[in-house]
Amino acid sequence: MTRSAEHVVSEYNDKDEVGMKIVSRIDDVRSAVMQARGEGKKIGFIPTMGYLHDGHLSLVEISRGITQFQVMSIFVNRLQFNDSSDFTNYPKDLERDIAMAGKCGVDLLFTPDDREMYKNALTTVDVSRLTDNLCGAHRPGHFKGVFTVVSKLFNIVQPDLAVFGQKDIQQAASIEKMVFDLNFPVRIILAPIIREKDGLAMSSRNKHLDQQQRADALALSSGLKHAEQLILGGERDVKKITHEIESIIKKGNPDSIDYISVVSYEDLSYIDRIDGKSVIALAAFWGTTRLIDNMIIEVAGDSYKCIY
Ligand code: PAF
Repeated sequence: MTRSAEHVVSEYNDKDEVGMKIVSRIDDVRSAVMQARGEGKKIGFIPTMGYLHDGHLSLVEISRGITQFQVMSIFVNRLQFNDSSDFTNYPKDLERDIAMAGKCGVDLLFTPDDREMYKNALTTVDVSRLTDNLCGAHRPGHFKGVFTVVSKLFNIVQPDLAVFGQKDIQQAASIEKMVFDLNFPVRIILAPIIREKDGLAMSSRNKHLDQQQRADALALSSGLKHAEQLILGGERDVKKITHEIESIIKKGNPDSIDYISVVSYEDLSYIDRIDGKSVIALAAFWGTTRLIDNMIIEVAGDSYKCIY
């Protein structure tokens, strides 16, 4: 059964055991946050597009360790979809999301509709350079949509802290820059990638994979694991590393590979040799499902650390 956010709001607001307020109006977010601040609480914020999984819940967990009042937004932001069928098909299950958010300690769930967020809007926000490569090069307009909605959400919620996942590393890095450049008083936290037991990075999009594609898509994390072994063996040449990752990903029969790129962690520019802090980032399609994954590498002399 499909239900509107309004419908769910009144039903769930009556349930004390959930202990979570659900609102879809900006004014209601402002007054709930103001009240929490009045009680001396710091505000943590977890922006999402819903269809929650353990990766999202881990972001709440991190935020709860630092702040006392957790705000989560669920809004499938049409502005960041460069492909309209991807927007239409984005998985949704608000009832399940509400149950999960309530259980993991969200205090305020914001579920606006398109009109509430973009009524007569003419303004967008963009970050240059950091979005030239990786997903930015393959999804025109995507990041402008992300920065616009995240700016709006930051202004609506006015959190002390916001948590973003490493899986969308270009998004997290560019938002950090946006926050710095536009003087948002928000601390940005980067949370580790949460993986299924077999290594597949958790994503709302995994739902679209059939059984074969789900098994094949493990090629992404296998590619990263192999890269770690190469780095352990002393390999630092990006061409050699990407070539080997490519042959592993191809064994997973992707329908296409968007990129296998190695960039500097600092400014996400392409590099030839792995040195200092770098990122190996991958994006490929299985059917119409586009999956991404990445690994942060910190190399200092002969020692290294891979975070993925
Ligand atoms: O990472 C996401 O889910 C989205 O890009 C975000 C940050 C919620 C903005 O719509």
